[in-house]
Parts: sequence; structure tokens; C-alpha cells
Amino acid sequence: MDLKQFVEQLEQLASQAEQAFLAADSAESFEAARIEFAGAKSGQLKAIQKQLGSLDQADRPEGGKKLNEAKARIQAALDQATERLGGEGGKARKAIGPMVDPTLPGASFHLGTTHPITQTIEHLKEIMGRLGFAPVEGPEVEDTWHNFIALNIPEDHPARDPLDNFYLSVAGATAIDANASEAKLLRSQTSTVQIRVMENQQPPIRIISLGRVYRPDEADMTHFPMFHQMEGLWVEPGVTMAHLKSVLRMFATSYLGEDVTIRFRPSFFPFTEPSVEVDYLWNDNWVEFGGAGMVDPNVLRAVGYDPEQVTGFAFGLGVERLCMRRHRVTDIRDLFRNDLRFLHQF
Ligand code: DAH
Repeated sequence: MDLKQFVEQLEQLASQAEQAFLAADSAESFEAARIEFAGAKSGQLKAIQKQLGSLDQADRPEGGKKLNEAKARIQAALDQATERLGGEGGKARKAIGPMVDPTLPGASFHLGTTHPITQTIEHLKEIMGRLGFAPVEGPEVEDTWHNFIALNIPEDHPARDPLDNFYLSVAGATAIDANASEAKLLRSQTSTVQIRVMENQQPPIRIISLGRVYRPDEADMTHFPMFHQMEGLWVEPGVTMAHLKSVLRMFATSYLGEDVTIRFRPSFFPFTEPSVEVDYLWNDNWVEFGGAGMVDPNVLRAVGYDPEQVTGFAFGLGVERLCMRRHRVTDIRDLFRNDLRFLHQF
């Protein structure tokens, strides 16, 4: 092809385009012209462009220049039509909607998810709700009455040691006095909520409380200075150890699966008598996931109940231990590193 023919073709295409854009009077006709003459896929423009290579070597620079001029004319015609029909983002664009090409491959992006512990808490609430336990909340900063005294934990009990608790310093005091009546601490257990509920409500009571607890433990694969517990309490006339074992078994099979093996081991807690610890079997090891027992009469008396009239059971389970077994997480620290690659798996 020679330069003359080439330029003629360009000329023809550019004038066709100008006419088409000039004639465009609707979003549809504008868009049709745009696709035919200006779109990235405009067949006509491409076909001419290809012929640039078949020009004499000497003519190519001139051919390229003409090609660019033709493109500029088409663009100008398009711009004018856009302007006339309401401008960029104006009527024409609005009428045809956003310029989305649905044939392009989608760019995937991650929606956020709730933290695995939050998911676990919701799941546990749902299971316990089916067993008739209503969720209640309690404060994380507690006084010694609710964290210890009312729970029958005497002053000299090792659980009250300042080294085993996060006591908060009292304004004006020079040292922490763990036994001062106004001493405050980050709660070390959710059993505090049992007291708060019983102080304000008469039996029958059937509640759970899920939340954070704090202990100055060295972090390792199974310990973390902050973790979560699910406390449960059922108080009304006639509640027995058999109810306790049934509820915990039903809970464990609901959450961990029908094939889970759990066992109850005799133990001691100041606020329950008798007391047990509950273990599940995981890879041939017994792993403790909580404590439980019949509410000690001293605790019932501390909140003004009559132990001759009502009995109750209580339990406190480790939320992380449950979550870890269900999702096969072997290091508790993974739950709190906030590594999105880990969290996105839930
Ligand atoms: N509060 C105990 C702990 O943190 C767990 C516990 C044991 C809770 C027995 C209870 C209970 O309600 O009855 O280790």
C-alpha cells in the first residue's frame, strides 16, 4: 500500500467518526459510535494501523503522523459529543451506567471476618442458649469482694497473691495492698459474674457469661496473660451433680463433635463442693478445659440465698482451649498475634 491510499483510508475513517459522533443523540448511539471508532477494540482503526507496516520505509514516519492526527480528530469528535450530551459523568454516562467491562477477570479481595474467638463466643452462646442458659455481662475491673471474698476465697489463699493477679494501684497509695477493701484488679476469673447475678436476682437462675480474664502468666503454647472463659450457673431447688454432668456432656458433644471423649476428675475449688475438673481427649492426651462443681453453701449464703432451699451448679470453661481443639490450633499465641494469614482461615 502506498502512503496516499493509507492517508485516504484514515481520512475516510475520521470523517465517518466525526459524522457518527455529531449524529449521536442518545446514550445508545453515542456508545455505539464510541465502540466503533474510539474503543480499544475499534476494528477499523486497528486494521488501518496494521497497514502502517506495509508502507515504504521512507513513508512510515509520515504515515505514523497521519495516523495520530486521525486518532486526535476522532478523540476530539468524541469529546465534543460527550460535552453536548451532558459531559463526562453527565446525562449520557449516567444513562449507560458506569463503564464496567463485565468480561474482565475480577480482582479478588477479602471481606473482613470476625476474630476466631469472637466466632467461638457466638457459637458457645448459641449452644448454651438451646440448653436454656441466658448470656449476661460483667465488668473486667473487679473488686476483691466479687473476685474472691464472696466466692469463699479467704485472705490467705494463694489465688489472691499479688504475684498471681493484676491488681490496680489505688490513687494515693504507695504500695498495692491486695487485701484493702477498696482493692481493684483485672478479674482473674468470670466466676465474679455468678456473684453479681445472684446479688441482683432470685432463683431460678440459669445464665452463662463469656469474657476476658487476666493472669500474669508467661505466654507459651497453652498460656496467655489474657484469655476468655465461659462461666455457667444454674441455681434452683433440686439441681444436682447429674444435671451438671449432663449439661457439660451435651455442650461438649455439640461443640466438639459426637465422638469427643470427656472425663470429670475430682478437684477442689473454694466456691464449689464437690468440685471437678473437666478434660477432653486430644491426640491421646487429656487436656483440661475447665472446672465445675456444686455451688458451695457459703457462696449461696454470701449472696443471701438459703442453701436449705436451693442448690446449684457452676462451671468455668476456657474458651481458647475449646476453640483450639475444634479448629486444631496448637499454639494459643496464634490467636492473638493478629497475623491476617492466620485469621483469614476462619
Ligand atoms: N473459676 C475457675 C478458674 O478460673 C473455674 C471454675 C471452677 C469456675 C469451678 C466455676 C466452678 O464456676 O464451679 O479456674
